[in-house]
Amino acid sequence: MVSLNSPREAAAWCDRQRQAGLQLGFVPTMGGLHDGHLSLLEQSRAQCDVSCASIFLNPLQFNDPADLATYPGDFDQDLARLAQAGCAMVFTGTLAQFFPEVEEERDIPRLSPGPAGKGLEGRYRPGHLEGVVTIVDRLFRTVGPCHAYFGEKDFQQTLVVRDLAERLRPCGTRINVVVCPVIRGPSGLALSSRNQRLGVRQRATAAKIHQALQCARTAWRNDRVRTPEALESRMRAALAHPEIVIEYASIREETRWTEHRPAGKLSRPRALIAVYIDNIRLIDTLLL
Ligand code: PAF
Repeated sequence: MVSLNSPREAAAWCDRQRQAGLQLGFVPTMGGLHDGHLSLLEQSRAQCDVSCASIFLNPLQFNDPADLATYPGDFDQDLARLAQAGCAMVFTGTLAQFFPEVEEERDIPRLSPGPAGKGLEGRYRPGHLEGVVTIVDRLFRTVGPCHAYFGEKDFQQTLVVRDLAERLRPCGTRINVVVCPVIRGPSGLALSSRNQRLGVRQRATAAKIHQALQCARTAWRNDRVRTPEALESRMRAALAHPEIVIEYASIREETRWTEHRPAGKLSRPRALIAVYIDNIRLIDTLLL
């Protein structure tokens, strides 16, 4: 595996692959790699001729400095995992390399996440989705035309990134965003880099997140519960636990994301949860 420390070198490597007629797959990451990331790489390898990844812990998307400071990651271990999983090239960079036109981090112009940035993560993590879209724009421009792989767990992020890919199309950067299923542990807990911070007891408590999502699915499918309010109250009841602080337990439609409470029948409803367990923020989602 080729390991590159600058976006400029990475861009040149990607250009060479395309010039050789190869279809490129790209997996953007912030490190702290787990089997969820490796499943993205696996999908990329199945669909593309050659796969690359980025590791960049993006400070722009952390609205909470403590969250950034404690974000898990072991660069050498991440490199080893990527190499073993068949990644052909990995690149990293610094904020200064990604944004050479500005002197200071505060001068970096933040891109708008667009309409999909409304509500949920947009509401509870101000600036987060702006930070995501700002760096993903640079990552996409670095790699160039490719298939780019994202996990469904960060569902709102996938909407925002799809929107960005549409906006890049007229500039000639054709990115096909591929959303891959959530990967779960034996208890149903969605894999996340932040899980590394959970102790044994907290990990057992965190299993309630998936149970709550399943509760909403059962209510929708078996009990024919049809209002967002009733589905949400089932999730809240299932999440009740002294260690869990609920940020949101919400029902949204995939196709009418911007309408918080659309009138009429729910179509393709999706349950989305964000909670804190001892200051560790976990999110998960399930299509009902
Ligand atoms: O999902 C992530 O790991 C990050 O948000 C991403 C897409 C790598 C951007 O920093």
